[in-house]
Amino acid sequence: MEAFSISGLLSDPFRSPPDPNIVATSVIGAVVLLFFVGFSLWRGLRRRRRKPVRVYMDGCFDMMHYGHCNALRQARALGDELVVGVISDEEIIANKGPPVSSLYERMTMVGAVKWVDEVISDAPYAINEEFMKKLFTEYNIDYIIHGDDPCLLPDGTDAYAIAKKAGRYKQIKRTEGVSSTDIVGRMLLCVRERSTGDKHNHSSLQRQFSHGHGQKLDGGSGSPRSATRISRFLPTSRRIVQFSNGKGPGPDSRIIYIDGAFDLFHAGHVEILRLARDLGDFLLVGIYSDQTVSSVQGLHRPIMNLHERSLSVLACRYVDEVIIGAPREVSKDMITTFNISLVVHGTIAENMGFLKEEPNQYRVPMAMGIFRQLESPLDITTSTIIRRIVANHEAYQKRNEKKEASEKKYYENKTHISE
Ligand SMILES: *[C@@H]1O[C@H](CO)[C@@H](O)[C@H](O)[C@H]1NC(C)=O
Ligand SMILES: *[C@@H]1O[C@H](CO)[C@@H](O)[C@H](O)[C@H]1NC(C)=O
Ligand SMILES: *[C@@H]1O[C@H](CO)[C@@H](O)[C@H](O)[C@H]1NC(C)=O
Repeated sequence: MEAFSISGLLSDPFRSPPDPNIVATSVIGAVVLLFFVGFSLWRGLRRRRRKPVRVYMDGCFDMMHYGHCNALRQARALGDELVVGVISDEEIIANKGPPVSSLYERMTMVGAVKWVDEVISDAPYAINEEFMKKLFTEYNIDYIIHGDDPCLLPDGTDAYAIAKKAGRYKQIKRTEGVSSTDIVGRMLLCVRERSTGDKHNHSSLQRQFSHGHGQKLDGGSGSPRSATRISRFLPTSRRIVQFSNGKGPGPDSRIIYIDGAFDLFHAGHVEILRLARDLGDFLLVGIYSDQTVSSVQGLHRPIMNLHERSLSVLACRYVDEVIIGAPREVSKDMITTFNISLVVHGTIAENMGFLKEEPNQYRVPMAMGIFRQLESPLDITTSTIIRRIVANHEAYQKRNEKKEASEKKYYENKTHISE
């Protein structure tokens, strides 16, 4: 009964019924169906097999600034999950002297950066073969990321040689415009301005810190006031967009407002922002202009300019939006414009005199019954950070000299790396 064989039907469709059109249609239908079933099975399998790409970056993250945040952003863009290794206090003390911020504070800062997925605290100061193996096996890391700045072992060899050889190393471009060295220089300059007694002392100290790479902080000309403002950071709209969430509040969002200088963004800031964000669905942060900060805290402040401070705040995962250059007084118009439900302020702040001030900057939200003070979880202010640095200035000075020597060697041989 050859009429029942499919091959017979296909090879001679005109021989007899069934209708050749129906046969052709059903064969095409079957082929199409098989194709789709096969394709979706294949896709499902592929998706299940495609693990997220995990990338790793480490650092001390002491005196963390937007340059670190930008490096973490770039690292995260090279994978799906970013694991950050924060180096312990003991390792930092052994290798370069005391850190400004404790491991706890540094981990708080790194964990709050919105591009960070995991933070680990057992990173060695100089990455070694053993730890790299641990990263690849225990932490399931696919790539180790590092900036294009030098990372040499004590014997002068490249710390990442093994990862490079294994093809599991990726490089990001160092953000130009800021380094911790510059920031320390600005702080010491601010101390020098205020003190009259040992002017020479701090001046030489400041010089030590400020001739990192290229431009000096204190050009010798111009008023001291302008010197504190010198920053090589050139803010572009692209960078601000990269740091923003780009989302407005939802239709029924409860909007919380907090304002301040947010100078030398630190763990105390992170913790109060976290609490504030928990009270609503959208956290709006008002960042005072440089003039506003100076008028309240003196000419030597802020250490970081408005754009630098804005980027640090924007990089924080608890923040939804910022006002770049907010007024000190919270007006009725602001509350209406941004549909603010609650205005908050921490109990630990640089300037707590506002409650007694006349006029009080929060008198409008207070009168409306939408002002609340939040118990600050950490007892840290910008002055705390400055005090720690000044107290340790000799150690920092020595560290800086060493760092300069090794960086100088590196910069002599530096070549261009495209981002
Ligand atoms: C600061 O000055 C004092 C005396 O005026 C001196 O003993 C000390 O070594 C100086 N410190 C630095 C860092 O130059
Ligand atoms: C303003 O905020 C309240 C919550 O406090 C919300 O219910 C309301 O929908 C918001 N209004 C607009 C126009 O988004
Ligand atoms: C820089 O390059 C020169 C010439 O290629 C070489 O002699 C020198 O050792 C290099 N220095 C470093 C620190 O790599």
